[in-house]
Formats: sequence, structure tokens, C-alpha cells
Amino acid sequence: MRGIVLAGGAGSRLDPITRVASKQLQPVYDKPMIYYPLATLLEAGIREILLISTPADLPRFESLLADGSQWGIQISYARQDQPRGIAEALVIAEDFAAGEPVTLILGDNVFYGDLELERIVAGFETGATIFGYPVDDPRRYGVVTLDDDGRPVSIEEKPENPRSRLAVPGLYVYDGRAAEIARNLTPSARGELEITDVNREYMRRGELTVVTLGRGIAWLDSGTHDSLLQAANFIATVEHRQGLKIACLEEIAYLKGYVDRAHFEQLIAGMPNSSYRQYLERVLELES
Ligand code: DAU
Repeated sequence: MRGIVLAGGAGSRLDPITRVASKQLQPVYDKPMIYYPLATLLEAGIREILLISTPADLPRFESLLADGSQWGIQISYARQDQPRGIAEALVIAEDFAAGEPVTLILGDNVFYGDLELERIVAGFETGATIFGYPVDDPRRYGVVTLDDDGRPVSIEEKPENPRSRLAVPGLYVYDGRAAEIARNLTPSARGELEITDVNREYMRRGELTVVTLGRGIAWLDSGTHDSLLQAANFIATVEHRQGLKIACLEEIAYLKGYVDRAHFEQLIAGMPNSSYRQYLERVLELES
């Protein structure tokens, strides 16, 4: 399966820190935010990735992530000229997806814990699979309501009066029809092609699966200064306690077998001396 990372948008809520580089290039503790959604894809076995961003930010992503071969993956790039909605990513990625299923993840979504995405992706056939995550204030998100059998009965974007506490994180698995569905949507009141409308269309067809994420999973928000700080603190706390890094792309690539030991050693040798490099040297020692 191929993956799409959407990392554009106006970033206006984080002004002025996003004036020079986009939100997804800002740090979440010890690495750029974009590493986290990329790690989610890599851990799920997704190695062909299209990154979509603004014309201004694309060169910055390219200089950070290059073509992905350093991690044994392929990253290509496409532009979204205006933030016309998350669903537009599916239209932009139509040639890349080539009619096959895709996983779409938002560049500001940070997950921690085992989502079982690898199993979901490996077993995926048709329709759409999204997730439901209980939150305290669902009004800020897409909200899904399930019946007693776990089937979705409603999905609403930022409802005034949410019918459930299940927010829909920015991680979606679609079959080859998603681009066509997205292309035929009418823009919402905020002028965007809404991903919630794509999901609603799959629900109308009876082809939407919702996987509820349990207590052991953290889905962190990074959309405001406070939530960005909280996310950084969370990552720092877990990393310090365990001595293990979260979303360290070099480590994931090595442990997943996307790069061999010689390549991993070369990667480390090319890094400046930093705590990040020291960590990777420890991984190398422990795995030998
Ligand atoms: O994070 C999950 C939520 O993301 C979902 O629960 C909602 O259903 C979904 O609509 C979305 O909600 P937001 O309103 O919070 O999305 P936002 O406009 O902040 O965009 C999310 C990310 O996608 C953000 O990093 C910028 C990027 N983006 C957004 C739009 C609209 C783009 O790259 N291009 C776009 O056109």
C-alpha cells in the first residue's frame, strides 16, 4: 500500500512560529513533527510515500527528507497551491495512487502506541477504514457515532452538539475510489473539500469501518501552542523513562529491515555529533 502525507495548510493558529517554516517542520521535542506521521507509515510497512505541501514549504521538506532512500523508502512530492481541504490531497495524489488503496495521514498527527495499522493495511480490501478516539472535547474534530454493533451511524465535522466523544484522527485508509469521491464533493461552508464528506460517502454506501482506539494509544494534538508543548512533554517523558526514542526514522528503517547494517552504519557516520547520533550508536551496539 502507498501512503500520502498531507503537510500543507495555512498554519495561522501557530503564528508567528510558522511564518518562516510550516507547522509540520516545527519540533516536537527532539525531531521535526513530520517524522511522527512518517514513522506511523513506516511502522505499518508503507514505503512508497507522497508528501503534499505548499509551494513555499515543499523545498524545505525535500531538503529534510530527500527521496527517502536513506531510510530504504521512496518519498515523492506534490504541491497543493491553496489549502482547499484535506480531501483535495486524494485528488492531487490520484496518479500516485494509480487506482490502488492508499493510507492518508495528516502531517501534524502524532500517534504513540500500537495502532495495529500494519495488520489493518495488510488485510485491507475495499471501502474505507478510519479510527475513533475518545476525547474530552470532540467539538474540535470530525466526530463519529457508532451503533451497538460498532457500525458508524453518523459522522459530523466539528459539531456544536457532538453525538459521541469519538473524534476521528487524521489517519484514513481508502480504496481506489477515494479520489473520485473527493473530486465530486461540494466545498463546505469554510470553502474546503472536507475529508469528513469522503468518509460520509463511504458510510452511505455501507463501506466504512471504524476502528476504535483504546486506552493504550496516545493521539496527540499539535495545533495550538499549548497542545504542541504538551505533545513535546509527552514524547520527552516517555523517551527519558524508557531510553528509547519515538519516531526515530533511522532506527525504524533498520529494525524493519528497510536498510541493512552497513547502510545504517553509514547513516550514523554521516551525522553530526548530537544526542540523536549517540542514540543511534547505542541501537547499533545493542543490535549487534
Ligand atoms: O486532526 C484530525 C482532524 O483533522 C479531523 O478530526 C477532522 O475531521 C479534519 O477535518 C481535520 O480537522 P482540522 O480542522 O483540525 O484540520 P486543519 O484544517 O487544521 O488541517 C489539518 C492538517 O492538514 C493541518 O496540518 C494542515 C493540513 N492541511 C489542511 C487543509 C485544510 C493541508 O495541508 N491542506 C489543506 O487544504
